[in-house]
Amino acid sequence: MATCKSLMKFSPGTKALIQLIQTRSAQTASAPAAKSKPNLKKFEIYRWNPDKPGDKPKLQTYTVDLNDCGPMVLDGLIKIKNEQDATLTFRRSCREGICGSCSMNIDGTNTLACIYKINDNPNKSVKIYPLPHMYVVKDLVPDMSNFYAQYRSIEPYLKKKDVTDADIGKQSYLQSVEDRAKLDGLYECILCACCSTSCPSYWWNSDKYLGPAVLMQAYRWMIDSRDDFTEERLSQLEDGYSVYRCHTIMNCTKTCPKGLNPGQAIGEIKKLMMNYNTQKSAH
Ligand code: SF4
Ligand code: SF4
Ligand code: FES
Repeated sequence: MATCKSLMKFSPGTKALIQLIQTRSAQTASAPAAKSKPNLKKFEIYRWNPDKPGDKPKLQTYTVDLNDCGPMVLDGLIKIKNEQDATLTFRRSCREGICGSCSMNIDGTNTLACIYKINDNPNKSVKIYPLPHMYVVKDLVPDMSNFYAQYRSIEPYLKKKDVTDADIGKQSYLQSVEDRAKLDGLYECILCACCSTSCPSYWWNSDKYLGPAVLMQAYRWMIDSRDDFTEERLSQLEDGYSVYRCHTIMNCTKTCPKGLNPGQAIGEIKKLMMNYNTQKSAH
């Protein structure tokens, strides 16, 4: 800003003009920013803290000004955690629908908080619960141990016969364009568990029924042209629960936030299983 000394070199008229501009800009800088009307939204969030003796699950309400918040439910959760309540606990990482960690039940739907928009109904709050029928670690964090153990049980990796450890990494296993295309709609699964935890069969039998997410990955490896263990993979699922608890209710496909179709994949496993059993009894 020009000082009195530096203004001395200007004519009186120019000096007056410069002083007027300086005064105006000082006023503008100190004036409070014009505020738009707040757009307040209530978030009702499931809370439970196992470290607090006697704590009972409850819904806690927070109010967020949507004018100052990103459009997705995860934006609201992060804002609440940063500005109102650091104890609120939830999982998230990529914030773009890739890692699968922010899965939760929002307004009655199992989905990913980072790609699910805050509802724009002014009379409706945003209701958030952990994924249904799962043990809860804390607040919105479900215990995924059983889900991951089930995933591990289907051996979700390429298995070859007549290949020793020494052979590994020495050659590529090629695949035709057509065979590779068969994996589309399967490999994109991010294991968020939204589908499995929307499946009534999985709610009641998650100890024995593998659920849609894991079964879709089992199918993905069964039909991979490079894998040599299709029959063994099928025989592992032959009991009355692993696959056959699916009653084709299709909640899984309806809820998948990636637009995949695990219900159809299970149907395909059942067809493979039928052929496999027919061939087995023919021998
Ligand atoms: S199929 Fe969809 S809902 Fe199920 S785990 Fe994969 S991405 Fe999630
Ligand atoms: S189709 Fe099968 S896996 Fe999907 S929700 Fe229904 S019973 Fe569950
Ligand atoms: S934060 Fe990764 S899927 Fe939502």
